[in-house]
Amino acid sequence: VNQGHGVKGLSEMGLESLPKQFIQPLEEQMLLNKVVPEESIPVIDVSNWDDPKVEDMVGRAAEDWGFFQVVNHGVPMEVLDNVKAATRRFFETSAEEKKKYLREHSRSKNVRLTSSFVPHSDKALEWKDYLSLFYVSDEESDAFWPPVCKDEALDYMKRAELVGGKLLQLLMKRLNVKEIDETKQSLLMGSKRMNLIYYPKCPNPELTVGVGRHSDVSTLTMLLQDDVGGLYVRKRDTDDWIHVPPMSGALVINVGDALQIMSNGRYKSIEHRVAANGSKNRISVPVFVNPRPTDVIGPLKEVLESTGEKPIYKQVLCSDYTRHFYKKPHNGKDTLDYA
Ligand code: SIN
Ligand code: FE2
Repeated sequence: VNQGHGVKGLSEMGLESLPKQFIQPLEEQMLLNKVVPEESIPVIDVSNWDDPKVEDMVGRAAEDWGFFQVVNHGVPMEVLDNVKAATRRFFETSAEEKKKYLREHSRSKNVRLTSSFVPHSDKALEWKDYLSLFYVSDEESDAFWPPVCKDEALDYMKRAELVGGKLLQLLMKRLNVKEIDETKQSLLMGSKRMNLIYYPKCPNPELTVGVGRHSDVSTLTMLLQDDVGGLYVRKRDTDDWIHVPPMSGALVINVGDALQIMSNGRYKSIEHRVAANGSKNRISVPVFVNPRPTDVIGPLKEVLESTGEKPIYKQVLCSDYTRHFYKKPHNGKDTLDYA
């Protein structure tokens, strides 16, 4: 049983080979995937948000790639460094301490340490541990998030959210949504979650994954990664995979399913995955902005009116969509068939 040691605990036991629960089906192992080293996702300098070129680059990246990196986004380096340090600090606390945040012990349902060590379905396990923090209010965060990381996590989350808001504004303008009123604000970023992820080094990295293939359910995801690397993105409409190289100070941005649906397929929520690493531990910190669980999402009327397109997705209750996503293993982006 997991007593807070997690996959990190397994990694530190110095196992000679990977426990078999972590062995992924052959088709999910990284080995067979064609990685194209010469390609890369766009890197966009957003120092001037009002520059029409920025709007154009962001819009095209969301349409063609679904993934891009932004630099000069306004989140101070110190804030990025602090949340990375805080993430390491959390995972380096004792198993006894971490145990408090496991599902069965956590004092808040919005704070949960998940370790693949406890299988919740019969799929192959992923080689990672993560602390998931659903934001409700500053008071709730202060009361229930782990003291060793809460201030840094909250500070980073709020700043990443600002970047997300600016990007969404540009992306909406391109869809003929002129004003982000309260309803739109809720649809686009009415709820937020952040994960502090720890990928321990792995005895047989080629047989498993850090995270299997999936697309995000979010509207937009802002991800901070350290300098280890290992995130791969599918090139749209192909079987080619592209590595997202770590760039100091950058944030990796991706379109999630909710935005693909709202844009009636114009912006692409792209499959991605993380390879396990044989020699290094890796951390990453994604912030997800989402609709509120009670929102109904579907192609926006502004999009349908301005393009004359028929909706290619139906209207779905956001919480139903999310529940459907969590029932599935990480093996592709077919959650979208639900919409
Ligand atoms: C994820 O997409 O679930 C995590 C991505 C990463 O750690 O780079
Ligand atoms: Fe993801």
